[in-house]
Amino acid sequence: MSRKKIVAGNWKMNKNIFEGKQLVNDILESGLELRDDQEVVIAPPFTSLELAASQLRDSKNIYLAAQNCHQEASGAYTGEVSAEMLKGIGVSYVIIGHSERRQYFGETDAILALKVDAVLKQDMKVIFCCGESLEIREAGTQNAYIQTQIENGLFHLDEATFKNIVIAYEPIWAIGTGLTASDDQAQEMHAHIRSLVAAKYGAAAADNTSILYGGSCKPSNAAGLFSCPDVDGGLIGGASLVAADFAGIIKAR
Ligand code: PGA
Repeated sequence: MSRKKIVAGNWKMNKNIFEGKQLVNDILESGLELRDDQEVVIAPPFTSLELAASQLRDSKNIYLAAQNCHQEASGAYTGEVSAEMLKGIGVSYVIIGHSERRQYFGETDAILALKVDAVLKQDMKVIFCCGESLEIREAGTQNAYIQTQIENGLFHLDEATFKNIVIAYEPIWAIGTGLTASDDQAQEMHAHIRSLVAAKYGAAAADNTSILYGGSCKPSNAAGLFSCPDVDGGLIGGASLVAADFAGIIKAR
């Protein structure tokens, strides 16, 4: 198995440039010792990306992510940022399809598939988010729902390109709510996602795909979640805003 163990911090719309600089400093000083197969990813807002890139320049296995990009390369799209612009300042990953983007900004599966292509075209990697609402979980149809999100967003890719995809399973009912999927619920869905990848791209590709869990992951529950065989790390929101908590989760990995 050669898949990476990844802990990614999604700051969402938090931290001005000074606060962000301090948080990156604190993370760097928190004594992380990353093995070759471990990565840490930090996803600040656009305004902190360039400074964070310079702070991270000499650190091993710590990468920068953007939280979004536009699907077009350039043009009359006021307020948007292209994948090429992100690549230019040293971004390695872009988060695509976060539930907040889908819910509040109307990002459809079709738009997300175009965004995935735009990121890959710039030789960056995608952290592709999927996740069901509480209603879907209660109806018991979450597996089919996640399958549709993944098929529509990712399965137009060929096998060689799919290598640059990390999948984050983020049940919406667990994001920022303090509710966490149980270890069993996370493992069950991650195994389902891996089986979808295996059916489409083969067992080796599935084995090499990192699948992260997101949704109220914190130092106290990270070790349990990360001990599940198909959980390869986390996409962390709230707890990534406090260096000690984020470092605690990384150390649990
Ligand atoms: P949370 O957010 O850790 O605050 O629940 C996770 C995410 O949305 O990435």
